[in-house]
Amino acid sequence: MGTAIEARGLTRSFGALRAVDGLDLDVPAGSIYGFLGPNGSGKTTTIRLLLGLLRPGAGSVRLLGQPLGRDPGLFARVGALVERPAFYGGLSARDNLRVFAATAGMTKRAADVRIEQVLDLVDLADAAGRKVGGYSSGMLQRLAIGLALLRRPELVILDEPTAGLDPAGVVAVRGLIARLAHDGATIFLSSHVLPEVEQLCDRLAVLHRGRLVGQGATSELLGADARLLVRLETPPDAERAVAVLAEGGWTVERSSEREPAAILVTGAAGQGARVSRRLAEAGLYPVELGPRRASLESVFLELTGEADPETPR
Ligand SMILES: Nc1ncnc2c1ncn2[C@@H]1O[C@H](COP(=O)(O)OP(=O)(O)OP(=O)(O)O)[C@@H](O)[C@H]1O
Ligand SMILES: [Mg+2]
Repeated sequence: MGTAIEARGLTRSFGALRAVDGLDLDVPAGSIYGFLGPNGSGKTTTIRLLLGLLRPGAGSVRLLGQPLGRDPGLFARVGALVERPAFYGGLSARDNLRVFAATAGMTKRAADVRIEQVLDLVDLADAAGRKVGGYSSGMLQRLAIGLALLRRPELVILDEPTAGLDPAGVVAVRGLIARLAHDGATIFLSSHVLPEVEQLCDRLAVLHRGRLVGQGATSELLGADARLLVRLETPPDAERAVAVLAEGGWTVERSSEREPAAILVTGAAGQGARVSRRLAEAGLYPVELGPRRASLESVFLELTGEADPETPR
């Protein structure tokens, strides 16, 4: 398997601000790759650099094994959604796609077949004859994704594809992305919410202030936090639970000052049953017990030593 996106030392400044700072990215072909970072961390700037929409101050990009800027045909193999494209409000979704297909040089026959497939894929087949001016923002977003897929790209780059969608829309787009990947496309998508990429992506890069602070398999990056959270009824119960479990050989800590009745058991995410049996023997019955979900905040804390990823710079 090749590398779908390879960036080396990618750097771009705006005035004194280094929006993207020495990025090395390796996105294996066939993967669903999540590009995770808080607002302002440089996701959109990176994606614009990857697509050649913005010139890097330093560094290089290869897409599908080819350097940017040599063969314009390369971009026919890459579908992207960065800023939402401008659609013709007075035309139907189907006609909008026809306009774009013609602009892209697709033959009418090929376009007509592909447009119906794409409308199906993004679940707009029923609304395809309606004027886009009357579309909701979720429908526009799905149409924009459809447009990115028009030429059956091998590589799909999506900047926050679920931003602005309601829960049903999010589920629909997630399903769509999974299907695309299943059909062999490489998907690179950015997000500022962890659960999103956690569910969908097999690999992740974590961006913080223009720099990569982590890159690798999702399970590895998030598995670092494989602790078991045990919430007891009262703080004194929590204190007893710490003693009981420590005696049983577990490494235990109090969760936080905000949660005086909760404790965390290190490396015990899969040992809920054993832990709860041990506590029951001591007459302790937790009100909650389960793997501690990694949050974007905890991942950042782990990777950067900084608690709050939203700190403005
Ligand atoms: N054209 C520009 N001119 C000046 N500054 C810019 C420009 N584009 C981006 N920036 C700055 O670069 C930094 C990174 O912005 P970018 O849009 O890449 O972040 P992002 O991770 O996409 O954020 P968000 O989650 O809000 O979309 C920000 O501080 C932003 O203000
Ligand atoms: Mg952005």
